[in-house]
Amino acid sequence: TNAYETIRVETRGRVGWITLDRPEALNALNRQVMRDLVAAATAFDADEGIGAIVVTGSERAFAAGADIKEMEGLRGRDFAVGGGFDQWRAFADIRTPVIAAVAGYALGGGCELAMMCDVILAADSAKFGQPEITLGVIPGIGGTQRLIRAIGYYKAAELVLSGRTIDAAEAERIGLVSRVVPAAELLDEADALAQGIAAKPLPALYAAKAALDAALEVPLAEGLRLEKHLFASLFDTEDQKEGMAAFREKRPPEFRHR
Ligand code: CAA
Repeated sequence: TNAYETIRVETRGRVGWITLDRPEALNALNRQVMRDLVAAATAFDADEGIGAIVVTGSERAFAAGADIKEMEGLRGRDFAVGGGFDQWRAFADIRTPVIAAVAGYALGGGCELAMMCDVILAADSAKFGQPEITLGVIPGIGGTQRLIRAIGYYKAAELVLSGRTIDAAEAERIGLVSRVVPAAELLDEADALAQGIAAKPLPALYAAKAALDAALEVPLAEGLRLEKHLFASLFDTEDQKEGMAAFREKRPPEFRHR
């Protein structure tokens, strides 16, 4: 059963899978995809049985960008607060770790969606880029900001100003993706990584993601203060007691994710 129009959703153990499924448009991110993806991701985020989320597309395209045909006739005021792409904020704000498993095109909004995830795993077929400039616009779901933080100013500026597409090998070399795997192994690799993450204690996963996210936003002293508080608060969780007791007793931990 699938409550969504443009995505497929599935649970494997403690991992929630979201597969973009708009093949006729190379998974272009129209309003319905945004609504479906945000709804599915926030539902997984609210489910204590879920410890990691994987977002993927097809062999041909992770997502070829925002939907150009839907955007073409818009005016500036259509992007007023609450409209436009504002719902993507909720996706970036979810607490559960998210892995992007990228095969084929991750262009424009597709590249930006991947960068809203915590880990980007790429098939050797993956292609990344911010081609918006060729359409007379600029990245609009975080591309200019997140790309600089990921790969540095000069590499990001070249990609955003030229619209050049890069392959998986270059994306790995410049630090946009954590790993490149053969296309046929992408989903198995993503599942293995996600299962490993999802098995970890949930309070520590939430704290780790919050601290990592903050590092991109706040000055070092503030980030270190936040890390110290999050670190301390984990000593009031059942899973910290279990994790450390299991180490002392030389047995595998049995986390309760609380
Ligand atoms: N929006 C709407 N439809 C799209 C699309 C998009 N971003 N990308 C592809 N499609 C559609 C095509 O129009 C085509 O539909 P029809 O068969 O009805 O004509 C179908 O998907 C297949 O695409 P192509 O025939 O073009 O496939 P291809 O293999 O020849 O080329 C491609 C693939 C190089 C990815 C090419 O489709 C392309 O350049 N797509 C647009 C990429 C792009 O510019 N993305 C940025 C969008 S702007 C943005 O994302 C703004 C933002 O920051 C939020």
